[in-house]
Amino acid sequence: MNIKKFTVIGAGNMGHGIAELAAIAGFEVWLNDINHEVLKNAINRIKWSLEKLYEKGNIKESSEKILDRIHITTNLEYALEDTDFMVEAVVEDINIKKQIFSKADIVTSSHSILATNTSSLPISEISSVVKKPERVIGMHFFYPPVLMKLVEIIKGNKTSENVVRRTYEIAKILGKEPIIIARDIPGFMVNRILFRLYDIACYLVENGKASIEEIDATAIYELGLPLGIFILQDFTGLDVNYLAMKAMNERGYNSYYCLSLENKVKTNQLGVKSGKGFYTYPTPGKFIKPIIPRDKLGKINALILISPAINEAAYLLRNNIASKEEIDKGCKLGLGWPMGVLEIADQYGIDEVVKTLSTLVSRYELNYLNPDPLLIQMVNENKLGVKSGKGFYTYS
Ligand SMILES: NC(=O)c1ccc[n+]([C@@H]2O[C@H](COP(=O)([O-])OP(=O)(O)OC[C@H]3O[C@@H](n4cnc5c(N)ncnc54)[C@H](O)[C@@H]3O)[C@@H](O)[C@H]2O)c1
Repeated sequence: MNIKKFTVIGAGNMGHGIAELAAIAGFEVWLNDINHEVLKNAINRIKWSLEKLYEKGNIKESSEKILDRIHITTNLEYALEDTDFMVEAVVEDINIKKQIFSKADIVTSSHSILATNTSSLPISEISSVVKKPERVIGMHFFYPPVLMKLVEIIKGNKTSENVVRRTYEIAKILGKEPIIIARDIPGFMVNRILFRLYDIACYLVENGKASIEEIDATAIYELGLPLGIFILQDFTGLDVNYLAMKAMNERGYNSYYCLSLENKVKTNQLGVKSGKGFYTYPTPGKFIKPIIPRDKLGKINALILISPAINEAAYLLRNNIASKEEIDKGCKLGLGWPMGVLEIADQYGIDEVVKTLSTLVSRYELNYLNPDPLLIQMVNENKLGVKSGKGFYTYS
């Protein structure tokens, strides 16, 4: 593929990592941000990461050589002109994203691909400001993009097949495992599943059922989720999660409204990047994983945490938005889980999942957690998972 110029707009947590990936792959990269300090910091972060990759033998070229291919600029037009491929990774705000795409529409030639790394906003909404929406596509990387293998590729209503194919190839060139999401729905696939965990965890804390540490202990030690639920939110940025949650809620993804998340963002407690979020980080920007004592285990049943995510996965499967293999691959490669959410469901038993969801509805009135018809059908057909020999998968 002939890409002479690769542009990344936004040089924060995601943008700097995507620029690094593109430079490692050999592209000449233009990295843009409105903030010059962010750009300088992005180069330092990329340098640090490249040196680590070089030490481990994961890259052959020196960091200097790779960095030579990254050009930083605060001038949007300069970053965009004559580009062949743009990935936009600015703040999760539909109006700011539309401004970038309007500019790209004017400045770039009609052969170039315009991708967005949005976590939650429909691609078709963003592409509405582009004269040729065929060339607009979702390319959703996971944090940190250099390490996480998954990329969700999302087709807007008008994205052309040629643009899907070329974006898929570029994701491969960047060393990623792309999956194509069949429908342009808020949160796409992985975040719809992940946000169910955020949602129930917030509900339990805000309603005095368990503490943040008790929930993270169950998530880490019982479910095997590498950063639990609250540490992960601190890691990715509470502002990013808050904006994504709001955008998804406004577009029909029903969930509990997490007021504590909103309050934290309003008081500039953004997680690792600001030094304080649900936990405290002594050096802002530097992630040191909080230690969660094992004796915090036992307060909360893991099924309560994971059942809403299983329910969401069942909805995605029933509506042909993703296959069971894609759903589980998404959890493993995008979130670093040891098992996919449907594999976890089969372990616990689909009947237990349905019971848990029904209790969440009847006892806590979380009506949006009514068990999905697919789960009910599975229970009726005795497809209970490992214990009955068949669930989402077959067991001999
Ligand atoms: N953090 C994650 O885990 C994650 C994962 C996948 C996707 N995303 C998505 O990626 C995007 C960026 O997220 P992030 O975590 O990197 O956020 P971030 O806050 O770290 O970075 C956003 C950057 O955008 C810049 N910016 C704001 N307005 C701009 C403009 N008009 N032009 C150029 N730059 C501008 C800001 O200065 C900032 O540096 C969001 O859409 C987010 O939803 C985030």
